Amino acid sequence: MALLEIKKFGCPTLRRKARPVEAITDEVRTLVDDMFETMYAAEGIGLAAPQVGLSLRVVVLDVSPGDPEVEATALINPELSQAEGEVVGEEGCLSLPGVVGDVNRAAQVQVDALDREGNVFSGMMSDIAARAVQHEVDHLNGVLVTDHFSAIKRNLLRSQLVALKREGGRQRRGPIYVDPVPEDNSKAGP
Ligand code: NI
Repeated sequence: MALLEIKKFGCPTLRRKARPVEAITDEVRTLVDDMFETMYAAEGIGLAAPQVGLSLRVVVLDVSPGDPEVEATALINPELSQAEGEVVGEEGCLSLPGVVGDVNRAAQVQVDALDREGNVFSGMMSDIAARAVQHEVDHLNGVLVTDHFSAIKRNLLRSQLVALKREGGRQRRGPIYVDPVPEDNSKAGP
């Protein structure tokens, strides 16, 4: 296993729509294992492949690390449906260290995906798992928490975001950044 570099706000992969995984190969399983290791090391509860520079539809989740009752879950090509209810809660992101803000999410959501072994995963998620999975699937679509913040909140964070963007922008040449994109920053956000 290996720790991967977490890409920061400003890295172009974070703004791309990620590709579906076509086959669950040893490489994909290694990626899943490395993403879990990276997530735990960073004390996160979820991580999406674009956050480690890979534009692939892979997510890992463990909303209660260390709790044997709550299973760690790898979601490959996840699809969300049947979103119900609405709840506002504070959210942060490993790609935006130090940034937190209120985000409105569905209270529960149906998740369909494949797991690390290629088996079908299908289940309703609620509470923090629902929030986490919506946050991570956003990452697969190039959407970041800041996109959900109010304009006032984004304005307050402006200098912090500019600094992060400078750092993230340099990461595009990192060793595991395998999927270069054209220099189009039109979707680069605040
Ligand atoms: Ni995030």
